[in-house]
Amino acid sequence: MCGIIGFTGERSAVPILLDGLKRLEYRGYDSAGVAVFNDGKICMSKAAGQLSNLREKIRDSANLTGNSGIGHTRWATHGAPTETNAHPHISNNGKFSIVHNGIIENYESLREELKEKGFDFYSQTDTEVIVHLLEYYYGFNGDFKAAIMKTASRLAGSYALGIICTDAPGKIFAIRESSPLIIGVGAGENYFASDVTALVENTRNVIYLEDGEFAELTPCGVTVYDCIGRKVDKTVTRVAWDVEAAEKGGYEHFMLKEIMEQPRALKSTIEPRVKQGRVEFEGLELDLSRVRKIIITACGSAYYAGCVGRYVIEELCRLPVEVELASELRYRNPIADEHTLLIAISQSGETADTIGAIKECRSRGASVLAIVNVVGSTIAKLADNVIYTWAGPEIAVATTKGYTTQLAVLDLFALYAADELGRIGAERYRQLLGQIMKLPMLVQRALDFSSNIPALAGRYHKNRTVFFIGRNIDCAVGLEGSLKLKEISYLHSEAYPAGELKHGTIALIDPDRLVVALACHEALLDKMTGNIQEVKARGATVLAVAQEGTKKIVAEADDVIFVPRAEPLFIAAVEIVPLQLFAYYIARNNGCDIDKPKNLAKSVTVE
Ligand code: G6P
Repeated sequence: MCGIIGFTGERSAVPILLDGLKRLEYRGYDSAGVAVFNDGKICMSKAAGQLSNLREKIRDSANLTGNSGIGHTRWATHGAPTETNAHPHISNNGKFSIVHNGIIENYESLREELKEKGFDFYSQTDTEVIVHLLEYYYGFNGDFKAAIMKTASRLAGSYALGIICTDAPGKIFAIRESSPLIIGVGAGENYFASDVTALVENTRNVIYLEDGEFAELTPCGVTVYDCIGRKVDKTVTRVAWDVEAAEKGGYEHFMLKEIMEQPRALKSTIEPRVKQGRVEFEGLELDLSRVRKIIITACGSAYYAGCVGRYVIEELCRLPVEVELASELRYRNPIADEHTLLIAISQSGETADTIGAIKECRSRGASVLAIVNVVGSTIAKLADNVIYTWAGPEIAVATTKGYTTQLAVLDLFALYAADELGRIGAERYRQLLGQIMKLPMLVQRALDFSSNIPALAGRYHKNRTVFFIGRNIDCAVGLEGSLKLKEISYLHSEAYPAGELKHGTIALIDPDRLVVALACHEALLDKMTGNIQEVKARGATVLAVAQEGTKKIVAEADDVIFVPRAEPLFIAAVEIVPLQLFAYYIARNNGCDIDKPKNLAKSVTVE
């Protein structure tokens, strides 16, 4: 998501800020800006779009000189990606300027409060409240530390903030809570940034700030305070990465980085939607009592997320759900009317077929709910309602955190809808919501459990054909696991409902085949055991995925990957993790271009 950089030293700040922002580009952004302290004033330049637009503007500006400043690449969440909404933001009295990464959840009430106090707002961002709060609290006694701490205490949500003030020449301030921010320690100059990517060219000595800590940086020193203002001794750590590796946050590929980011992406997607023990979607206006049928439509992995969603929504809401590929739905005269809810799922929000299917169903009277990752995208604009996945930018073509956050939104929506329709009791609601909230932790555990996957990939990477089998949600997860494998490793792979094997595919089973048996659905474990025996009897090798402690599977399969135990309805987000990693390591063994597989595009904007 957004990228932050700050610099103070003897050198001119702007070129250093721009270089830092360039290195943060991979995070994804849609506007950028810098602010420097110059001759008693804050001078600023911002531009929508690429960093090159900002560079172009700065070239024409004479007053952007100065030796300390802040910079930002913004990935729009609140408000369109315009120059006005771009960071840095500035206080009404021109004294404070800030950059922010994160989301301020209580910004609406703070905005009202500040308006009543006489502050003027110029942007649609959640961030702007912060800079006015700083001005307000600094006005009490001109104490920076007190103003920053008081401001921070008013903010709900996540933030990494970079701050400059005209009353503190040569100083830059940083504070964080649930958003990344590190300090770079140089010789006669110091920095802060969202990640080391932006710093390693200048210094490899970093201080990791903890949540609630804030730092005051001058050219010759860094002082860190805890959340109640006491000085903290911090250790300076030497980063081992070279510049190139750091661009991927130290990971060999964006895909691996994004797989590892899933716990955080899920947390960002789930937590803001849970308030006082209830699922709430801000701004959602949906009369579910009118809905007689739900159609889920999407392409690729988003479609496979929909296949999981069908099981969850039908089970909890007892409403009929159809899942249809957008490229098919749009050309089959869909049966949809004002009693149909169309759920369109898309990471990019720009997929041409999904847009086509939305238009077809909308013209027949269906109401459209979009589940989208990119704010302000075409699908988000077309829909009557949008629920965003807060996965952050996804760079690797093969989606990972995009898919799991879509699952999380579908789980939350199913629970919300079941409640709205009066189809779930209070106790079951409470219990299931607790299970959804555990998903970030369970996905982290699934990652922790995955240490045997590189070795398994080493054993199986020469297989030419892989079959994925499963029942119920396991079957839907197999579709995505199989897609991941073929997308990035180019192995032939197919996913089948396990019960369907004997109606055809079993003819292909022989000693050269690897069968990945997904056996997390414990109610159907006996049936799956039967299917495993069927393929074993024909010589196939079986790699099973099961919940930890499933002894029966150990006895049947050649190899087993365990995942942590989870609520069966919501286990897909946990179960997919080893399959993503399996695909990744197979592709790596086979020397494939993992982040940019041949023939594939991240965003498919043509039919
Ligand atoms: C492409 C991507 C897939 C993605 C699909 C749908 O095929 O390679 O990873 O699942 O498009 O994209 P969307 O942006 O609509 O989710």
